[in-house]
Amino acid sequence: MKITVVGAGNVGATCADVIAHKELANEVILIDIKEGLAEGKSLDMWQTAPVNYYNTRVVGYTNQYEPTAGSDVVVITSGLPRKPGMSRDDLIATNAGIVRTVTENIIKYSPDAKIIVVSNPLDVMTYCAYLTAQVDSNRVMGMAGILDTARYRAFLASALNVSPKDIQAMLLGGHGDTMVPLPRYTTVSGIPVTELIEEEPLNAIVERTKKGGGELVNLMGTSAWYAPGAAAAQMVESIVRDQKRIFPVCTWLTGQYGLSDIYLGVPVVLGKNGIEKIIELKLNDAEMALLNQSAKAVREVMSVLDNMTSKA
Ligand code: NAI
Ligand code: 2OP
Repeated sequence: MKITVVGAGNVGATCADVIAHKELANEVILIDIKEGLAEGKSLDMWQTAPVNYYNTRVVGYTNQYEPTAGSDVVVITSGLPRKPGMSRDDLIATNAGIVRTVTENIIKYSPDAKIIVVSNPLDVMTYCAYLTAQVDSNRVMGMAGILDTARYRAFLASALNVSPKDIQAMLLGGHGDTMVPLPRYTTVSGIPVTELIEEEPLNAIVERTKKGGGELVNLMGTSAWYAPGAAAAQMVESIVRDQKRIFPVCTWLTGQYGLSDIYLGVPVVLGKNGIEKIIELKLNDAEMALLNQSAKAVREVMSVLDNMTSKA
C-alpha cells in the first residue's frame, strides 16, 4: 500500500503524520513545490517513529512525481489560502491551476489512484480534479463533511458534557456557510439529540458549525489543520482498509437528491473502490430547500471555473 500527500503545509503534513501514526501504508510520499519543505517535514516525522512506535516511512520530495508512482490513494492539499486583496475569482484561478497540474502528474504516475481533494474552494477544486483526471467519479472525492461534522459533534459534546465518541451526525451540502447540518440525523448513543438539548442552543450550534472554519481563521490568522488533516486521513483509512464506513463526502451527483453534474457533500460508503455507494436520505421539505440553496451556491463557483476553462 502506498499513499501520497501533495502539499506539505499545515494540512498536508498533519495528514501524513496521522497516516503514519495509524500505519495505513508502508510508505507515504509527501510532495511540495517549496524546496526542501517536504524533505524536512518527512525527516522530522520519521524521527518520531522510534518514539511513537510506528513503522510507516514518510519520504519527502520537491515537486518530483516519479517517486509517487503506483500510489493507491493521493490526498491533494496544495493550494493557497485567500489573502488580503485577492478576489474569490483570483483564488479559484490560482488554486485551480495548482490542482490541475498536480492531478495531471498524479494520474500520469498513478493511473489507478483514488484522489481525495482538500484544497479550497473545496467542492470546486474537487470538480477541477475530476475534470483533469478523467477517471470514474467514484475515484475523485473531496474532504469537508468529516471535518464539518467533527466540529458539530465537538460543539455538541461540549454543550451536553458527554464524550464526543458517542455523538453521531450527518451533514449535507457544500463546504461553506451554506452547509446543512442535520439535527434530525444526529444522535447521542442512539438517543435523538433533540431529546437532550433545547431548540435554541441546538440552532446556535448549527450556526456555529457553518462558520466553524472562519472562527478558527479569526483566532489564528490562517485556517485550521489538526482536524482537517485527521479528517482526510480518516477517509484514507476507510479506503485502504476497505472499512466501508459511511461519511459525508464531496461527491459527483448524477440525479441523487434531484441534483446532477455537481460535486456536493452527501453520505457515502467509502471502501477500497473509493465511493462505493451514495446514500439518499429521506429529507423533509425544509432540509431539501437548504440543500438546494447550498447546491446553488456551489454551482455559482463551479461556473466561475467553467468560464475560466472555456476562455483558456
Ligand atoms: P499551507 O499554505 O500551510 O500549505 C499549502 C502547501 O501547498 C504549501 O506548503 C505550498 O508550498 C504547497 N503548494 C503550493 N503549490 C503547490 C504545487 N503546485 N505543488 C505542490 N505543493 C504546492 O495551507 P494549508 O493550511 O495546509 O491548507 C491547504 C489547502 O487546504 C488550502 O487551500 C486550504 O484552504 C484548504 N483547506 C481545506 C479544508 C477542507 O475542509 N477541505 C480545511 C482546511 C484547509
Ligand atoms: C476550514 O473549514 C477554511 O476550509 C477551511 O477550516
